[in-house]
Amino acid sequence: MQKPLSLGIAGLGNVGAGLLDLLSTHRDRLRSCVGRDIEVVGISARSKGKSRGVDTSGIAWFDDPLALATSPEVDVFIELIGGADGIAKAAVEAALGAGKHVVTANKALLANHGIALARLAEEKGVSLNFEAAVAGGIPIIKTLRESLTANEVRRVYGILNGTCNYILSTMTDQNRSFAEALKEAQELGYAEADPTFDIGGYDTAHKLAILTCLAFGTEINFDEIDVEGIQSITEADIEAAEDMGYCIKLLGVATVTDTGIEARVHPAMVPEESAIAEVWGATNAVAIDADFCTSLLLIGPGAGGRATASAVAGDIVDIARGGVMPPFVTRACDLKPYKKSTLSAHHGAYYVRLAVYDQPGAMAAIAKRMGDQNVSIESIVQRRPRAVQPGMATRPKPGTPAVVIMITHETTEHAIREAVAAIEADGKVAERPQLIRIEKLEESGT
Ligand SMILES: NC(=O)c1ccc[n+]([C@@H]2O[C@H](COP(=O)([O-])OP(=O)(O)OC[C@H]3O[C@@H](n4cnc5c(N)ncnc54)[C@H](OP(=O)(O)O)[C@@H]3O)[C@@H](O)[C@H]2O)c1
Repeated sequence: MQKPLSLGIAGLGNVGAGLLDLLSTHRDRLRSCVGRDIEVVGISARSKGKSRGVDTSGIAWFDDPLALATSPEVDVFIELIGGADGIAKAAVEAALGAGKHVVTANKALLANHGIALARLAEEKGVSLNFEAAVAGGIPIIKTLRESLTANEVRRVYGILNGTCNYILSTMTDQNRSFAEALKEAQELGYAEADPTFDIGGYDTAHKLAILTCLAFGTEINFDEIDVEGIQSITEADIEAAEDMGYCIKLLGVATVTDTGIEARVHPAMVPEESAIAEVWGATNAVAIDADFCTSLLLIGPGAGGRATASAVAGDIVDIARGGVMPPFVTRACDLKPYKKSTLSAHHGAYYVRLAVYDQPGAMAAIAKRMGDQNVSIESIVQRRPRAVQPGMATRPKPGTPAVVIMITHETTEHAIREAVAAIEADGKVAERPQLIRIEKLEESGT
């Protein structure tokens, strides 16, 4: 039997403690799968005295993650601290520089510095594995890096943030406002005390940046992604979507277009009969459209200590078995420069919600502004809020602006934005119009 593979784990929070638990629970299984023992020889975190709920006796403690990263005892450095910069970046760089394999779950680090780190790993001939960095327990990195290598991927998209999906699901299922659903998510531990990073779409954008690079063989593009969060979604949008046969999800979408790569994160309408609409709560889903494999959808736990540890362990197993591949499939020096397709060129259908003043000619003026931009309307309805109790009609007070919902036929982002800006400038609406893209999904043919 080969000598044991020795691990140094920095970060003993949800994922780090989950990994220690998994490695001890499945010690024998792992040994028989890889033909050698996998041993944790060193650990590091901020506070040594903190109870971790796992047995760490006999494992050397390192106050400094950098010392652990470069320790001669360590074959593989596992970075589970988090953060795009700071100690996580320094420790990963130090480990790679010292010729150690690295496994990390850190999407922020990879989205911001992934290519430079990949170059360093390739130069040193070591692995940089990061299955857990995107969609937690879902094996999407392996799928793109290995299983689909012989395909041309045209689009990769998905629900990549459990917090947002939980909030939107709660708003849909339980008729809650955004604020109420967010509060509930925080109480249940699905959302951070400061949820900006999740609800603003930035966490999804980090993951999408990594997926885009893997799917299309381009350099990472985090700053080029168009990002909108879910804060502007109201109960009126959720209700209207349901009544029209749609469901609202925060999607990260990257598509190859004639003019470059369109990478965007935003709330989107998806047909309620689509598989992705059925992904509820904190669950994640990633879909891939590829030429030979056609459509693929992976659904599973996008977070949580155990599921994420499972992904980290899979990366460790690959290293234990031997064989090193470029972190982003294509060697870092051969990745194509990222060419952005501007969002104004996006082609698709739109949902528009307007609060229209009750004035003669208001609707005609709105229709004209749409017509001026060649935006054709598939449907238009005036809505009242749903009755609080069945049978009790809700009648708007006189003078209250009417809620008008429009669904457009396919148009360009440029055209719809121009039309909506003109409607707003005309003073026919009481508040900023709401615009939500309708995502075209192959499976439903919509
Ligand atoms: N949680 C998930 O479900 C999930 C899913 C996918 C990916 N990830 C990624 O996995 C990584 C870890 O996430 P997590 O949820 O496990 O985080 P966490 O619970 O906050 O744990 C972070 C760990 O890092 C340690 N740490 C922080 N600063 C440190 C420093 N300066 N020096 C040494 N140790 C330090 C902390 O030490 P103390 O414990 O002593 O404070 C803690 O053990 C992040 O990159 C995250 O994005 C997490």
